[in-house]
Amino acid sequence: MRSLVFLLTLFLSVVVVSGSPVATELAPELIAPSSNWPQSGHQLGRVHVCTGTNWTGHCEYLVHPLDSCNVLDRSFKHNIGSFAPDPCTLCFAYETSHCSFGDGFFWMFQSPGNATGGIGVPNNAWITRISSFKCWPSPDCMG
Ligand SMILES: *[C@@H]1O[C@H](CO)[C@@H](O)[C@H](O)[C@H]1NC(C)=O
Ligand SMILES: *[C@@H]1O[C@H](CO)[C@@H](O)[C@H](O)[C@H]1NC(C)=O
Repeated sequence: MRSLVFLLTLFLSVVVVSGSPVATELAPELIAPSSNWPQSGHQLGRVHVCTGTNWTGHCEYLVHPLDSCNVLDRSFKHNIGSFAPDPCTLCFAYETSHCSFGDGFFWMFQSPGNATGGIGVPNNAWITRISSFKCWPSPDCMG
């Protein structure tokens, strides 16, 4: 319960500051990953990433425990242009390499994700900036 309260507090504070530079991902009409990926089904906490925008380049499903920091290795550090958490998974992606809010930008993602790389929004191109991410069960799916 305490972590839920924490998450909701975090969630609300992000919504409150959701102007630049934080990019929110709450709109339902976001681009969906193309349907021809080899893996199907859903997995809480799983994230589908590609190095390019529009689900291009090198793509992988990353599975990492919830509520713990996933520090990206060389293949994806500063090199994610498409980011899609599985349904019911909320992720924050951080510019810092240790999932901290304090000293860098961060971006929030929810299913079905975002494939723009943040390009086109001034000062927001997360395609060259994400170093770590952390995911939680998303509040809208908690019953
Ligand atoms: C994604 O693809 C569409 C259609 O080909 C194109 O119009 C758009 O500019 C692309 N967006 C990005 C961020 O690459
Ligand atoms: C993706 O994220 C960008 C900012 O990072 C935002 O402007 C855009 O509306 C988001 N969604 C889509 C479908 O482009």
